[in-house]
Amino acid sequence: MADTPTAAQTGLDVLWREEDYLYPSAKFIGQANLTDPTIFDRFSLDHIPEAFREYADLLSWDRYWDKTIDTSDPPFWKWFVGGKLNACYNCVDRHLDKYRNKTAIHFVSEPEGEAVRHITYQELWVQVNEFAALLKDMGLKAGDRVTIHLPMVPELPISMLACARLGVIHSVVFGGFSGKAAGERAADSQSRLIISMDSYWRAGKLLDHKEKADIAYVESEKAGHKVDAVLVWQRYNGKYSSPTALVSGRDVVVNDKLEQFRGKRVKPVSMPAEAPLFLMYTSGTTGRPKGMQHSIGGYMSYVTGTSKYIQDIHPEDVYWCMADIGWITGHSYIVYGPLSLGASSVMYEGAPTTPDAGRPWRIAEELGVNIFHTSPTAVRSLRKVGPDEPAKYHFHFKHMTTVGEPIEPEVWRWYYDVVGKREAVIVDTWWQTETGGFLCSTTPALHKMKPGSAGPAVAGIHPIIYDDDGNVVPAGSGRAGNICIQNPWPGLAQTIWGQPERFVETYFARYCKDRNSTDWHDWPYLAGDAAVQAEDGYYRILGRIDDVINVAGHRLGTKEIESAALTVKEVAEAAVVPAKDEIKGVMPELYVSLHPGYEASEALQKKIIDAVATELGPIAKPRHVWIVPDMPKTRSGKIMRRVLRSLSDRGDAGDVTTLANPEVVESIRKQVQS
Ligand code: WTA
Repeated sequence: MADTPTAAQTGLDVLWREEDYLYPSAKFIGQANLTDPTIFDRFSLDHIPEAFREYADLLSWDRYWDKTIDTSDPPFWKWFVGGKLNACYNCVDRHLDKYRNKTAIHFVSEPEGEAVRHITYQELWVQVNEFAALLKDMGLKAGDRVTIHLPMVPELPISMLACARLGVIHSVVFGGFSGKAAGERAADSQSRLIISMDSYWRAGKLLDHKEKADIAYVESEKAGHKVDAVLVWQRYNGKYSSPTALVSGRDVVVNDKLEQFRGKRVKPVSMPAEAPLFLMYTSGTTGRPKGMQHSIGGYMSYVTGTSKYIQDIHPEDVYWCMADIGWITGHSYIVYGPLSLGASSVMYEGAPTTPDAGRPWRIAEELGVNIFHTSPTAVRSLRKVGPDEPAKYHFHFKHMTTVGEPIEPEVWRWYYDVVGKREAVIVDTWWQTETGGFLCSTTPALHKMKPGSAGPAVAGIHPIIYDDDGNVVPAGSGRAGNICIQNPWPGLAQTIWGQPERFVETYFARYCKDRNSTDWHDWPYLAGDAAVQAEDGYYRILGRIDDVINVAGHRLGTKEIESAALTVKEVAEAAVVPAKDEIKGVMPELYVSLHPGYEASEALQKKIIDAVATELGPIAKPRHVWIVPDMPKTRSGKIMRRVLRSLSDRGDAGDVTTLANPEVVESIRKQVQS
């Protein structure tokens, strides 16, 4: 980890003016789930871990736990040990008595002419049971892994919940990711199945998705792991909508096969609380993605508690998290948290601006959405293309969320004034794939809002900012540092699948006080973000301190993009940097140098961009590929990404006197900034 840059080295700007506060309305407070400020006393550091019983008590347990936390193998904390439960039962079965005929999922297709599918809890229960019966018939059992590579369709949560019902560990790969990325993840997790779909709608086109399943299968095999079968859902029931042929003996069309399982029911398997519920792969400092492993009991407790108190979800609300289930936000705050609370959760298949920037607001009006959740990138783009659209529609949000990246105060104000119509409270939630649920956010009925700041911590989370020497950076100092969480909480990932050492090194080694200690106080969690805490205790998150680029709230590893570029035979060296972008916050810009004998050309630039899209997926496409004569390097031969980054941001290169080849910087600057 010695190579990891620190908050100070990232040169992040911490000069910012304090924004004025805004307050939740009396109407919001009057109906909120959490209005008792003593929650922060109940969840004080002295009351960890026992305080989290309050969240676990929101679930239905088959067997109550014996021990709230087991710290005997630090930092692999085990929560609610001895307890037994089933995640699917908690999200579906337990609501049937009261909410059988209430909508669980409102599914909105991208084509506006298609009717909305309102799936009741009863219907969800039937479909999950039938698909679980199919999986069981294929020999799937508790502890097996399954890779799910699906777009935003109801078959995605149905597949996840069916796995959860059997105790099968799902690993959902974002639908927009390439087949190759899905295959590598299937191999890493040793998945028995790949669950895919024939096609889906995105930005006005019915995209072939099945072709990616074929690539994934081959890729996994190349990586040494043979998947038993590929399950293919049909986007339109009864009709195969993909130009890619089915492979006989390997591919199973789920919709056909389900005919054999009509009316079949499968008892939810009573699972140990500390058994894994799912893996979610995320990028880190190496080319190998990390399969963050989340538990059943701890994770479910944490997402249920935070959905209730921070998202303020009541069963009668219509809740729309406009994000993709393929990311942690969708797992925690479209599927598991909201459904555990018996909410009605909206799923939208397509792009927010298809066919126009009024689309989200028409959906909100039609379905009576009153809680809305999305990313700053979506807010920026809706504001840019349709600043006056929200006013044209009759919808009223009581609550809105932002997640995934910092939101500029100016963008926040448009969200508040125009989307929220000055009625909705806003929470800016800071958290990560690793953390399962929210870490910092205002608690909506209790705290005032400050645009641009995530707010204080949520109940039971105790952040601390350390400088590089391990000194505490105090609130109000105006200095940034590395934000850590002092205590364990039940949403924290249990480990990295197959890489326990990496889990310890990445998140705990830096500030661990004693590697032999079984006292959790000695093991602060390093989030990997730089942050600054204002006088009032509010945190402002500045960005990653590691080699991760956060594009539109999606984490991309620089090493992954660089290795993709290096698959092009002409490329000798590649360096990717995050460059500021008006809509997406930042975008990757790729610098490459070529092997001798090759010439820069537009065709080559395109070839490199295509290689990144094939290896990883279109979201990782660089905004620009600069083919440069040589990379700026230190005398020890390390590429100076800092220099490239400031050139991409149209700044000057800073001090280059320590470089081995300072003269190259000026020529790159001319190329990039002309
Ligand atoms: C960033 C997404 C500023 C941060 C839930 C973090 C944020 C990374 C915020 C995790 C926020 C997330 N303000 N930055 N409200 N929320 N981030 O794993 O850098 O996809 O480390 O989880 O996104 O991204 P991930």
